[in-house]
Amino acid sequence: MLDLSNLPPNFIWGSATAAYQIEGAVTEDGRGPSIWDTFSHLPGMVDNGDTGDVACDHYHRWPQDVALMRRLNLEAYRFSVAWPRVVPAGTGPVNPAGLDFYDRLVDGLLEAGIRPFVTLYHWDLPQALQDAGGWPDRATAEAFADYAAVVAGRLGDRVADWNTVNEPLCVCWIGHLEGRMAPGERHLTRAVHASHHVLLGHGLVNQAIRASAQLPPAVGIVLNLSPTEPGTDRPEDVAAARRADGHINRWWLDPLYGRGYPADMLDTYQVDPPVRDGDLELIAAPTEFLGINYYFRQVIVDDPDGHAPFIRQIPVPGSVETAMPWEVYAKGLEDILVSVAQTYQPRSILVTENGSAWADTVEPTGEIHDKERVDYLEQHLEAVRDAVVRGAPVDGYFAWSLLDNFEWAYGYDKRFGLVRVDYDTQERTIKASGRRYAELIRAHRAAHPVTHDAVI
Ligand code: FCB
Repeated sequence: MLDLSNLPPNFIWGSATAAYQIEGAVTEDGRGPSIWDTFSHLPGMVDNGDTGDVACDHYHRWPQDVALMRRLNLEAYRFSVAWPRVVPAGTGPVNPAGLDFYDRLVDGLLEAGIRPFVTLYHWDLPQALQDAGGWPDRATAEAFADYAAVVAGRLGDRVADWNTVNEPLCVCWIGHLEGRMAPGERHLTRAVHASHHVLLGHGLVNQAIRASAQLPPAVGIVLNLSPTEPGTDRPEDVAAARRADGHINRWWLDPLYGRGYPADMLDTYQVDPPVRDGDLELIAAPTEFLGINYYFRQVIVDDPDGHAPFIRQIPVPGSVETAMPWEVYAKGLEDILVSVAQTYQPRSILVTENGSAWADTVEPTGEIHDKERVDYLEQHLEAVRDAVVRGAPVDGYFAWSLLDNFEWAYGYDKRFGLVRVDYDTQERTIKASGRRYAELIRAHRAAHPVTHDAVI
């Protein structure tokens, strides 16, 4: 029997999405192009040539999606605002129709009793800013703060919870070093420069929200973290696992918590981030919470022929893998929550994403018995509970994702939703995992009939 009674009484139960993955309507109401529009339309970049042009058509169907959230008993919804809808050229004129969309969505959520968590950057950089240099340029961080001030000025009378950047690792290492995501670059110096400006952007936006929002804000960045382990006990592999920890985890956490960039990684990259006076203080300014996205651990071996940081992830023999294929390893969530809590002492942690893709089958009755996703969800919630018991201040969990959606370079084949989307008809069907999640939320709430006052 799954016992979640040790989760805090005011634990926040939510689910998450991102604009480009669900909205569609990419040329409507004045939205400008983003780097993901460009990237997804390049031949060979996304499986099956899929793009986010239509996605889940959430831009038009959001009232129905908010109704689904209610059926799932969600208390919170984490979504992202598309920068190119609000400021189509990245800087300069604001597009009122873009802001209006999020205004209506926030009102709809509040009417449904669902707390909005807004992510300001979930990877859809306006293409005009990319053309001007993108994240490797400092000006992008400054433009990010101007756009954030506009959004916080408009929504900050009703929204209190803000995520600055989603997953700097993907933006910088996957987008600028490995080239597997937009903008598709492979350049270590540009990647390291991008990493500093993404963190600086977080710092500037943290400030901008506080200056522009009416409600007292809770601000946090969202990092995707993984515990790293050596694949063998060879000294080279042990050292590689340490570098992987630096590349994946410490490169972001250390500056955010006032320790500056890790010296061993500066040695490994041999590239100096373009730090100016005052940047590190801005990056390390206090936040109310840390968002952690967790999907898998990383078992690592040395890769002297690869690019810095010379590491390679290897599969774990005998492990259960999702459709991605990512190893199912719930203990990794407990471990990362506890180690981050102990090492960096964030005031509060939210699991801002966690979930799994499976090759769902639709029964003749139309039902989706996604037992693997149910098991994954339960195991990871137990891991959160175990981390809480070990002292980690985890105050909420957001299942990835509300809907099946455009899974970046993997296109629509990889389904993470608690709700199935039929992309031919746009019909939504709650899966068994969605029903199970709704039941767990109801049970926890019934055991803790407390106020829904903000806990962070
Ligand atoms: C994370 C992303 C999210 C989604 C999941 C599966 O890296 O933040 O948008 O694609 O992975």
